[in-house]
Amino acid sequence: MCGIVGYIGHRDAYPIIIKGLQRLEYRGYDSAGVALYNEESKRIFTVKTKGKVQDLIDKVELNGSPFTNLGMGHTRWASHGEPNDVNSHPHLSNSGNLAIIHNGIIENYEALKTMLKQEGFTFKSDTDTEVLVNFIEYVQQKENVKLGKAVQLALNQVVGAYAIVIFDVSNPDEIVLARLGSPLAIGVGDDEYFIASDATPFIDYTKDAIYLEDEEMAIIKRGTAIQIRKIGDDSIITPNVQELEFSLEQIEKGGYEHFMLKEIFEQPNAIQDTFRGRLLADKGIIRMAGVDDNIDRFLNAKRILIIGCGTSWHAGLVAEYIIEDLARIPVEVEYASEFRYRNPIINKDDIVIAISQSGETADTLAAIKLAKANGAFVFGVCNVVGSSIARETDAGAFTHAGPEIGVASTKAFTTQITVLVLLALRLGKEKGVINTTDYYKYLYEMMAIPDKIAEVLESNAFLEEIAAIYKDATNFLYLGRGYNFPVALEGALKLKEISYIHAEGYPAAEMKHGPIALIDEQMPIVVIATRKGHYDKVVSNIQEIKSRKGKIIAVVMKGDTIVKNIADHTIEIPETFEALTPLLTTIPLQLLSYYIAIMRDCNVDQPRNLAKSVTIE
Ligand code: M6R
Repeated sequence: MCGIVGYIGHRDAYPIIIKGLQRLEYRGYDSAGVALYNEESKRIFTVKTKGKVQDLIDKVELNGSPFTNLGMGHTRWASHGEPNDVNSHPHLSNSGNLAIIHNGIIENYEALKTMLKQEGFTFKSDTDTEVLVNFIEYVQQKENVKLGKAVQLALNQVVGAYAIVIFDVSNPDEIVLARLGSPLAIGVGDDEYFIASDATPFIDYTKDAIYLEDEEMAIIKRGTAIQIRKIGDDSIITPNVQELEFSLEQIEKGGYEHFMLKEIFEQPNAIQDTFRGRLLADKGIIRMAGVDDNIDRFLNAKRILIIGCGTSWHAGLVAEYIIEDLARIPVEVEYASEFRYRNPIINKDDIVIAISQSGETADTLAAIKLAKANGAFVFGVCNVVGSSIARETDAGAFTHAGPEIGVASTKAFTTQITVLVLLALRLGKEKGVINTTDYYKYLYEMMAIPDKIAEVLESNAFLEEIAAIYKDATNFLYLGRGYNFPVALEGALKLKEISYIHAEGYPAAEMKHGPIALIDEQMPIVVIATRKGHYDKVVSNIQEIKSRKGKIIAVVMKGDTIVKNIADHTIEIPETFEALTPLLTTIPLQLLSYYIAIMRDCNVDQPRNLAKSVTIE
């Protein structure tokens, strides 16, 4: 997630901005930059670099920063365009008068860019942000208005999400900011204002903060009160100044105790970000550039091979069910570490899908190279833009989940599945496997998923209670069938890696072929028993467990009565299509693991022996 820092006041802005950027480093980023108003030259002094804030400091020191009391800084988590110096923020408009920093995604940037090019604007970077700053400049010139008005008029024509900060050299006593979908906080000091993505950068200077709401913009003028307006209708909002009571650490984690919990709760928004600009349900459109540009390859593929490791491999297993079901293309899923070291049959008309959150997993990277050397077309599903896997693949789709800091993958898993469902639906529609009515039903149901996840998250306190009962168990079994078999594997992996309890996931029907021997009154068994997909058979499995005195924690669909009567604990999820149930059933399993781990005093964000990104074999 990008980090934003801005300052207007009476102090030297540069050290405040740099310290603020350092405070935001926890959010994850790939590049950094500053733009400072240079009072002597009346121009904007900009330094940007791929890499860390320290790289930025080193680069600024070579040039010597001007004293200024107006400026902004940014840490970028790439979404459009790879991480490099040019794509880093801030971006300047063509005239060099406007400087902007932006967090979010402008969905209609391509259309705006085409229009601006026709008007004579030129672009240095691949970013949507540079389009936005030039669009604001275009509106400013065309309508002959001040910056605040130009920002407002421009944003009313923008589709997407943003938190922006912008200033104009021709009026260095003013800074403008706006938000829709990405956070922005304003620290109110004595004749000075601090702007940031959250309060961490300014907590040392002031405890008074205003949190801008969605669809609001603020115009901050030196020496006058801050003015907050609605972007849509120009109405004035009375600023709500709140006193900050959080510690620095609490703010970094968004008030959550751990990054993992924060990331679990981020899933509704993360999935919205995965959809953004891709899923246009009203128009029946699924748009993904990497798929659009290679649609014939996908439609002519005889087979899809999916490779990944850990949680990403589990997402691949879910995709196998979805793609075969909705698009009728044969799919094989394999651990990248196995694939790379055997002699796999890879045909030129195979498509290889490589899934990786970090984009740096050594086994996955090596498997991609092998597939490419054998002539396969490799499509990446990655979270980290500019990562090795994102660069090595022929095409791909980013998950846009934002940085995942907890070692245990949570939002990466659900956003990977989201991308793969979109892919399956797109292919199913093009191949004529799904009829138009069902296709539209799927699109609308996908749109409803973030709210349904939010509803499942309400079972948080209940899962904490269940965790307290089973925290001392030494073994756990996870059972699921069909689409929810990979979810059972994922639930077991989550528990082992953060709580160090031995856990195994099985397809429910396999229980009778061995694991049933383990069941006694000491054994908690998590069963995913949605009313879809072989429900009766899973109910029989639950009865078999019960008669052997196993303890049953069941994930069921709302309104279920049969399993509720047998299981020891039931967690309800809202009704959805079978193919989409993994997006909901996985949430209680994440929460259960989380609470068990913290009750066992484990370090959930950095479990022993594990690394977030496994760059060695
Ligand atoms: O970054 P990747 O998705 O390629 O990582 C793959 C695995 O290392 C990763 O999913 C790992 O299993 C997680 N710790 C699971 O929570």
